[in-house]
Amino acid sequence: MTDILTHIEQAHAAIVDKTTVVPRVGLILGSGLGALADDMTDATVIPYTDIPHFPASTVVGHRGELAIGMLADQPVAVLRGRFHFYEGYSMQQVTFPVRVFRALGCDTLFVTNAAGGLHADWNVGDLMLITDQIFLPGMVGQHPLRGPNDERLGTRFPAMVDAFDAELSELTQTMAAEIGITLRRGVYTMLTGPTFESSAELRMLRVWGSDAVGMSTAPEVVVARHAGMRVLGISLITNLALPDGPPANHEEVLEAGELAKPKFSELVKRIVARM
Ligand code: HPA
Repeated sequence: MTDILTHIEQAHAAIVDKTTVVPRVGLILGSGLGALADDMTDATVIPYTDIPHFPASTVVGHRGELAIGMLADQPVAVLRGRFHFYEGYSMQQVTFPVRVFRALGCDTLFVTNAAGGLHADWNVGDLMLITDQIFLPGMVGQHPLRGPNDERLGTRFPAMVDAFDAELSELTQTMAAEIGITLRRGVYTMLTGPTFESSAELRMLRVWGSDAVGMSTAPEVVVARHAGMRVLGISLITNLALPDGPPANHEEVLEAGELAKPKFSELVKRIVARM
């Protein structure tokens, strides 16, 4: 067995060598949302290639950098570009940055993603507070906590009914109302991708109680909870994923990210400021 603690320590050492900021909040920015990190001050930017055991990000629209610095007067660590299971990484690799966030001092994970909305009356550009998740790959065995459990990292059987922090959710609703943003609420389902869903799959997701679908986030949430972190998640609805709708494509996902950037950045900053 590879010693994950050693890997975490090595990544941690490489990062603290470059910055004295001790981040409280770890942010993961999804497709097209990475530009939020440009609003940071005093940021130390570290390419993933300079961090031991960090995989390299391969998707268009995702940078491959960790930025540590101040956002809205809070010390934060921001992952500009995440690792997706569909890129070929293991679930352990996908979630490794969350372990590193924890080692750096983060007690909160703030995760964002691009997702397909499963409601015909939703709009592209809507934001959705993630109230719960369906981690389909995890349910069928592609789970980051599969294998021996290291008690120093977390408990063997972590609960997930309260995965998304109630207080942070309330804060998010309040901040959205303050700046006049319509905030949807709903269940995020992760499928592995990289195919977009078939019509039958979309119908299945609706029956299951899903409100949005994407290809990320759930493993990171699971590991953050294992590590005892609070979790807040927001999806940007980049397209409507409807059984009778037009096929989804990656370009529209990136475009919606670009268009939503101002309001999304504003919301994230207000939330972070009050975390
Ligand atoms: N399906 C899966 N993942 C996605 C989608 C979608 O429709 N939109 C953005 N990410």
